Amino acid sequence: MDGELYMTLVPASIAKSKPGYLHLPFQAANTGQMLRDSQTDLSLMGCQIVALLGSPLKNGNTAKLLDRAVQGAKDAGCEVETIVVPFLDFEACMEMFFCVDHEICGMEDAMVQIYPKFRSLDGIIVATPVMTMGIPGKLKSFMDRFQVFYMAKYVRKQPLVPKELKAHRRGLYIGISGMKVPDVFEGSKRSMKTFFDIIDVSYGNELLINDMDNIRDIGTKPELLEEAYRKGLDLGKAVAGKE
Ligand SMILES: Cc1cc2nc3c(=O)[nH]c(=O)nc-3n(C[C@H](O)[C@H](O)[C@H](O)COP(=O)(O)O)c2cc1C
Repeated sequence: MDGELYMTLVPASIAKSKPGYLHLPFQAANTGQMLRDSQTDLSLMGCQIVALLGSPLKNGNTAKLLDRAVQGAKDAGCEVETIVVPFLDFEACMEMFFCVDHEICGMEDAMVQIYPKFRSLDGIIVATPVMTMGIPGKLKSFMDRFQVFYMAKYVRKQPLVPKELKAHRRGLYIGISGMKVPDVFEGSKRSMKTFFDIIDVSYGNELLINDMDNIRDIGTKPELLEEAYRKGLDLGKAVAGKE
């Protein structure tokens, strides 16, 4: 959707000032849910990947697929930080429009610590189940909060992601669904591609697995876990400049 503008009208009175939004609880960071693989600041590393888990089940099928993809990316030499989004302490976008003319969001919550990582990352892996034929609510709210990047890129034409990073940033989408129907990933995929566009990540690859209602345990499908590993490895190699 490069160049596409879906927001045309922003009330000037809203856009100009940062409203008092201090009733939202400020959390320095929900560090308990950010599973750092190293104590090193990712911005100092050569190849940084952020992995988002959309499922609230930390040992569920989505998490197992993500683990394999993360291992692949690490084996390619990348540093990976996994964020379990359902447990992150943030609110849905409240349309304050502070980001119309600011590089930060007007809401002060755990997202404050997230934005810098998304400016500097080289790659992203998003693994999520389909819920109500789309992205689960908490992950969708997380994506919505990147309106900060949207406004900078499409409205002010001053992207938050440096040009030299944009050129190689890539994303991998891992989706699973209970049902086996042809359009089951349609809604999620549309949102995912839009999110990747907004954060200046090219939609590099995907692994879409349906029929989980019958499969039940992804452990019974080692070939799919291996595919997740392989796609994580490929992503890691691509953003590390090894291919
Ligand atoms: C609230 C909720 C809504 C769901 N909605 C759908 C749906 O619309 N279509 C579908 O195919 N599966 C749906 N599912 C099934 C999940 O996509 C599926 O069970 C998936 O394997 C869950 O992954 P997880 O165990 O790693 O969280 C839904 C599951 C939940 C909990």
